[in-house]
Amino acid sequence: MARIFPAFALACVAVMAQTSRYNYDEKKVPPYVVPDPLTLAGGEKVSDAQSWNEKRRPELMALFANQVYGNTPAGPVTLRFSEVFTDRKALNGKAIRKQVTIYFTADDAGPQMHLLLYLPAAAREPSPVFLGLNFNGNHTVHADPGIFATDVWIKDPAVLNKTPNMLHIPPDDRTRGSNAANWQVEKLVARGYGLATVYYYDVEPDFVGGMVHGVRPVLTQKPEDWSALGAWAWGLSRAMDYLVTDKAIDPRHIALMGHSRLGKAALWAAAQDHRFSLVISNESGKGGASLLKRGFGETTDHLNGAFPHWFGPAYKQYTGHPENLPVDSNELLALIAPRPLYVASAADDLGSDPRGEFLAAVSASRVYQLLGKRGLGTSQMPPVDVALLTQTGVHDVGYHNRTGKHDVTEFDWEQYLNFADMHWGVPTK
Ligand code: GCU
Repeated sequence: MARIFPAFALACVAVMAQTSRYNYDEKKVPPYVVPDPLTLAGGEKVSDAQSWNEKRRPELMALFANQVYGNTPAGPVTLRFSEVFTDRKALNGKAIRKQVTIYFTADDAGPQMHLLLYLPAAAREPSPVFLGLNFNGNHTVHADPGIFATDVWIKDPAVLNKTPNMLHIPPDDRTRGSNAANWQVEKLVARGYGLATVYYYDVEPDFVGGMVHGVRPVLTQKPEDWSALGAWAWGLSRAMDYLVTDKAIDPRHIALMGHSRLGKAALWAAAQDHRFSLVISNESGKGGASLLKRGFGETTDHLNGAFPHWFGPAYKQYTGHPENLPVDSNELLALIAPRPLYVASAADDLGSDPRGEFLAAVSASRVYQLLGKRGLGTSQMPPVDVALLTQTGVHDVGYHNRTGKHDVTEFDWEQYLNFADMHWGVPTK
């Protein structure tokens, strides 16, 4: 992210401490055969859409739930939406800003999340919208003084470098707009798209022990059988529950975008919820779009060691033995098919293994083709800063490897907007 805040710095410190265990040398990657997404666990080949939809897809969904992200509780919740605070003259009249609190229980003091929504004021029809969780609070997404600042969690500055001790603090106005470069709100609105976002800690605070402050214990008596990534994915679907009720939004055109750990959550959310009709993984890395069992970049050991709360309980058994995991990320990406999917890497983000993200998209393309769609259209990794969608026409799987570090930049958003324009048409203004 553009600026690192204490809660996020916690993760980065942990990463640096173990970086030496990552392999960054392509020559040292052991031979790895990407699993065939079109072969059932029993060995039977999947050769038509029906057996994909009825056999292989459910099999993969169960494997990802049981072995990776934990099982999402089945029980429905009764959502309540607060009054929507609307400003029709936000961003100098260019945008409509709405803010709504989504309560997960009947208790006003119980778990709840705050959704911030910008829509293009000039829209003549219901708008397409990008939804994404944010890292540091809604008020960091734009300097707009009208955004309600909410409580955030930070690492206690008094105990930095010691056992994580998280503080739940009141809104901190000094951080207003601090992540604006990652969200490009004005650009989205100018191109006819809306942006919806929620602070991911609202759903579950991201630290070991954060579970008790989030939705998991509310939804299930066995919260430890689920996971933080599972909970964030669930939260995205609850945001969707609100978005489809808003008449100013086109419910057929709600895209999901997630960066890094929130890209992992976005992919799992989209696998479970077909209402997300276009999906973007921005450097979601290992545990997300990148081939986990390819020996490059972040390891399963690191994921389980630094972030034990992210994955379901079964995932722990793959520490030291990722080869035993019965799935890989190409199969997660395939679960998005036939919906348009864009995978983005950054050349200096080696922990995420850009080539592993690309190869997963190549393999997932086979499922797109089986379903009558156009996959990536190549197995050659493009040069940096060349977006595959612009080189090869409208494909249902897009990819780029941007110059630079782990981040979300204007270049990234340009490609996502182009990709959405190509699939949905340019929004009318
Ligand atoms: C850490 C972690 C990654 C994750 C990233 C992020 O670097 O090791 O797996 O994607 O944090 O969320 O920024």
